[in-house]
Amino acid sequence: MKGVILAGGKGTRLAPLTKVTSKQLLHVYDRPLIFYPLEILLKAGIKEVCFVVAPDHAGDFLAYLGSGKEFGARFTYEIQDEPAGLAQGLSLTETFADNEPIAFILGDNIFEDDLSEEIRNFSGTGAKIFAKEVPDPHRFGVVEFDQDMNVISIEEKPQNPKSNYGQPGFYIYDTTVYDKIRTIKPSPRGELEITDLNNIYLKEGKLKAGIIKGRWIDAGTFDSLLEANIFIAKKKQSQASSLQTSILLDQNKDIIRKIADSL
Ligand code: DAU
Repeated sequence: MKGVILAGGKGTRLAPLTKVTSKQLLHVYDRPLIFYPLEILLKAGIKEVCFVVAPDHAGDFLAYLGSGKEFGARFTYEIQDEPAGLAQGLSLTETFADNEPIAFILGDNIFEDDLSEEIRNFSGTGAKIFAKEVPDPHRFGVVEFDQDMNVISIEEKPQNPKSNYGQPGFYIYDTTVYDKIRTIKPSPRGELEITDLNNIYLKEGKLKAGIIKGRWIDAGTFDSLLEANIFIAKKKQSQASSLQTSILLDQNKDIIRKIADSL
């Protein structure tokens, strides 16, 4: 399995922060946003990652991420000339994929869950999408599924959502994905939509869904970027304080044992 991170687009909703840099390189607490989806792929043991980036920010990505050596991986870059859709961005990675399945993740999505098992257990056939219960499903692709996690429908930003489950920006595809993208027509907003791609797998009966249990943040707006910063900061602080507690306990273990014995 190889990994693709989509990090193009214009980030207009975050202007003026995105005037001289890319959205995916804005900071979330102590690291650029894109490090979080990258970590999801690296944790799962993926060693080859392709970043799809916009032409005006390609140099910044290279400066931050480099060859991948620092991360124990190999990085490749593809330029998406225009933000012509998520599926169009993915289509640029066909040569990179070289007939291997792909874990595809959006460069502005933060996941609390460890998705390693999902990536490692992928059967190699069909596609897997994910669903997360959200209060505002109309903002996302909306997934409807039955008790056995068979997908019934996926609709892109519907006015009347059929479920409360949004489709997060993480997908796993088999090697037929590029042929399928070639059959998609641009949507009314002029993009090759990821939802249209997933619907092709659905029609073939080859689409599975998984549930995202932990936090999921699409950090593409001021509010959600702030939410991401607060979430990561709190997580790091609680990790630091539990580390401090265990160091203190370890340093004082003899005293603690004596007190316990005397009780
Ligand atoms: O975040 C999850 C949602 O992402 C899904 O629920 C939707 O089904 C999916 O269509 C997508 O919706 P968005 O409206 O949030 O997509 P957006 O246009 O904001 O693009 C998502 C990211 O992908 C963003 O970081 C920019 C990047 N992008 C976008 C386009 C259209 C590209 O790199 N290239 C593109 O052509």
